[in-house]
Amino acid sequence: AGCGGSDDAPAQPQVIAHRGASGYLPEHTLGGYELAIRMGADFIEPDLQITKDGALVAIHDDTLNRTTNVATLFVQRNGGYKVSDFTLAEIKTLTVVPTGTGKASYPGFTPSSANAFAVPTFQEVVDLAKKQSSTAGREVGIYPEAKQADPAMEDGILKTLAANGYNANSKVFIQSFSDATLRSLRTKQVAQNNKMPLILLGVATTAADGTARMGVTGATGVQALALKDVAAFTEGVGVLINNTTYPVTKTFIDQAHAAGLKVHGWTFAQADAAPAAAEFRKYLDMGMDGMFANYPDLAVTARNAY
Ligand code: G3P
Ligand code: CA
Repeated sequence: AGCGGSDDAPAQPQVIAHRGASGYLPEHTLGGYELAIRMGADFIEPDLQITKDGALVAIHDDTLNRTTNVATLFVQRNGGYKVSDFTLAEIKTLTVVPTGTGKASYPGFTPSSANAFAVPTFQEVVDLAKKQSSTAGREVGIYPEAKQADPAMEDGILKTLAANGYNANSKVFIQSFSDATLRSLRTKQVAQNNKMPLILLGVATTAADGTARMGVTGATGVQALALKDVAAFTEGVGVLINNTTYPVTKTFIDQAHAAGLKVHGWTFAQADAAPAAAEFRKYLDMGMDGMFANYPDLAVTARNAY
């Protein structure tokens, strides 16, 4: 089934490996992405930052110190360890360390990549998805997030994907919390005649009259956008789950679908099988189209059993 938003047949809900198989292995690593693919994930998710010399690398934070051993190898620059203060060559000397529930290894799994726990470039993540697609005998999707509202980030994502053959019908989504970034991406995509699907991240909100709206972070807090306006520059929304202030409801998902938007949810982080299955079922019952999951094997099991 197509996942890029242009097929007529309904696609099954998609499992998006959040930062890789990040519940099991160090996040944003080729090892973690490969394990996620081995577990059956439909998409792998790299968050992207820009190095001092302009390379896109897969890492969540705008600093290196939470997820790597940078502090053991380098002194601080400008009072910290910002990705943008280090060159790609310097970042390539680092090792990504386990965080959260992630461990240094996973039983029975040996990554095929050399340097499986280095900070990967975006191109290396794309290469892995393509190589693993042929190994797995199915297309592995890629779901990059622009973590900086920066034209260089927009251009780098579009250029890398286009150079690797991605187009509007590919298994790809480009995501951002910034509607300005997505509007700019869409303008550039139209000029390049390559409208790869876009996803706006934020929270599910409801107006006083019951109309669902997409909440994005603005200068004065959460700003609510009409779903039809969001649909003018994206193919879908990615919403925070399990939030009492901004609950994701069936009404929200129904109205998003009516506006032509897919609805993906983040982050499914339950580590234990039974509560994880219940949580996936809750959102699948509402009609959710995709789930960002830290334990992609649990998401695949729940989706396949649904
Ligand atoms: O991109 C969806 C979800 O990953 C957003 O949260 O902070 O993990 O990027 P974060
Ligand atoms: Ca993300």
